[in-house]
Amino acid sequence: MSSVLAFQSSDGTAGSAGRRAAADPPIRIRFVGTRKTFMIGSKPFVALEELNLDVAEGTFFCIVGPSGCGKTTLLRILAGLESPSEGRVECSRTGKEPPRMSMVFQGDSIFPWMSVWDNAAYALRLRGVAHAAIKETVDYYLDRTGLRRFADYYPHQLSGGMKQRVSIARAFANDPEILLMDEPFSALDEQNKTLLQEELLRIWEETRKTVLFITHSVDEAVTLGDRIMVMTAHPGRVKAIIDVPFERPRSVLELRAERSYGELVYRIWGHLRDEVQQARDQQQSNG
Ligand SMILES: Nc1ncnc2c1ncn2[C@@H]1O[C@H](COP(=O)(O)OP(=O)(O)OP(=O)(O)O)[C@@H](O)[C@H]1O
Ligand SMILES: [Mg+2]
Repeated sequence: MSSVLAFQSSDGTAGSAGRRAAADPPIRIRFVGTRKTFMIGSKPFVALEELNLDVAEGTFFCIVGPSGCGKTTLLRILAGLESPSEGRVECSRTGKEPPRMSMVFQGDSIFPWMSVWDNAAYALRLRGVAHAAIKETVDYYLDRTGLRRFADYYPHQLSGGMKQRVSIARAFANDPEILLMDEPFSALDEQNKTLLQEELLRIWEETRKTVLFITHSVDEAVTLGDRIMVMTAHPGRVKAIIDVPFERPRSVLELRAERSYGELVYRIWGHLRDEVQQARDQQQSNG
């Protein structure tokens, strides 16, 4: 059973009209006092401390934090794969159904026994979408990710970058209202990563989905995100939330040449540095 509550949101105020201006986009996702404790043997282990967070509709929201601080746990709770131990997560919905989500994981998350085309069509077929509509959507996203001529290939015939492209095509083809991405590019080399960041930005700028994107790379968060949450070392809490002021559409390479880009990366590292050190100390004292 999903632990994610869906609230009706027709006017976009989502219960917080007092704090939000009328022109603000509506809240899409809300964590309210969300806490997650795992039992390790008979000992409780707090992975996420009380988390209070609003993510507005259409935001590209990036999450950075040291290894083990609870980033994946947070996404898994949102996807309904874990239940919060305390508090709740709410997602606004406009219809009767809870919002549709797609998740892109680090590394290989495509089915090795399916062709590129079938992988991209998978979620649409599950939903019983008509064949003609599936064809149109899948062809479109294979085009946008440069995979059209590899439609009949199988994953073992693809490079790592191409496999991640298939994951992205599959996620967007599902037409999710919320897209969850957990370090989708971290296993890729620098060149492939840059190309895929460009492609992701191009597709996202067409669709403006609400995205939660976990990354270890501050550069990547600044390049892609509208807002960045820096988390503390374990147990994970919100350390800072930073707005990214750069206009869209963005060019990954041109952005890197901007002085203000370097300044923002430096500022975010200022928040992160102590947490990374603390996480390292924790690991050493546990090991
Ligand atoms: N099912 C589980 N049972 C017990 N502990 C867990 C479980 N899932 C996660 N944890 C622990 O919770 C903490 C947070 O894990 P999580 O995977 O969310 O971290 P993360 O921030 O995504 O780390 P990384 O950046 O390395 O991916 C870790 O210490 C992890 O060992
Ligand atoms: Mg993780």
